[in-house]
Amino acid sequence: MLTFNRLNQGNFHNMNTVSNIGELRAALTKRQGKSIGFIPTMGHLHAGHLSLCERSTNENEVTVVSIFVNPTQFNQTSDFEFYPRTLDDDIHLLEKHNVDVLFIPETSSLYPDDYQIQLSETIISKELEGEFRPGHFNGMLTIVLKLFNLVKPHRAYFGEKDYQQLLLVKKMVDALFLPIDIRACTTKRALDGLALSSRNSRLKPDERIKAALFPELLQSELSLADIKAQLLAHGFNVDYIVEQWGRRLGAVSLGHVRLIDNFPLLPT
Ligand code: PAF
Repeated sequence: MLTFNRLNQGNFHNMNTVSNIGELRAALTKRQGKSIGFIPTMGHLHAGHLSLCERSTNENEVTVVSIFVNPTQFNQTSDFEFYPRTLDDDIHLLEKHNVDVLFIPETSSLYPDDYQIQLSETIISKELEGEFRPGHFNGMLTIVLKLFNLVKPHRAYFGEKDYQQLLLVKKMVDALFLPIDIRACTTKRALDGLALSSRNSRLKPDERIKAALFPELLQSELSLADIKAQLLAHGFNVDYIVEQWGRRLGAVSLGHVRLIDNFPLLPT
């Protein structure tokens, strides 16, 4: 088990970084009886992830984070290959944010069945993101269930930016009677309003400037058709702009980078 103890080199927390299931179980056994908060991630961490960690450390005795770029939720090989991986920086950030256990598993250890067993949802997972990314949500639910079974958290933290993901995780927890409290956390944004996302770093400088138009238009008072027209006129590809689940949700792309976002609908 790798233990990063940098207490003597600054204000770093004593974090256990574990890379297999046996080590994870040993790290959790040492903390038996304590409340556990869990944040599953795919790494390339930003202030949005760190705010989930802060909330978990405030609400639990132990905070566990996982970093795993889950192959089954990528419907495009290129998106999986180019997904940004910045492990050293991530470890450093998590230590600074008082995370207790970091789990960085190998793919083979999480899929000993060679992908034969997968969870599926039949309605919400097929629309919006599910329509444009077939199989994405079944892969996401499968890995989240596996991680929940390994970490056995009392609470798990998910950002509202991935609103459909949040709904599906809550539905799974209810349907499978999992004793886990799913806590929704508000979306963190850059100063220009763009929702923080690990994929933003793949935007070219001119695309990054233009990207701020997406949240600006999505929360404007324009009609859905006018928002879509304006986005298209500015060079975005638009997958959908809809109102559902009490929110206005949208998905667009700029170049090779896909962006999603949503805002609560204001009471009329
Ligand atoms: O939101 C994500 O980063 C991923 O979908 C998750 C929840 C870590 C599962 O791989």
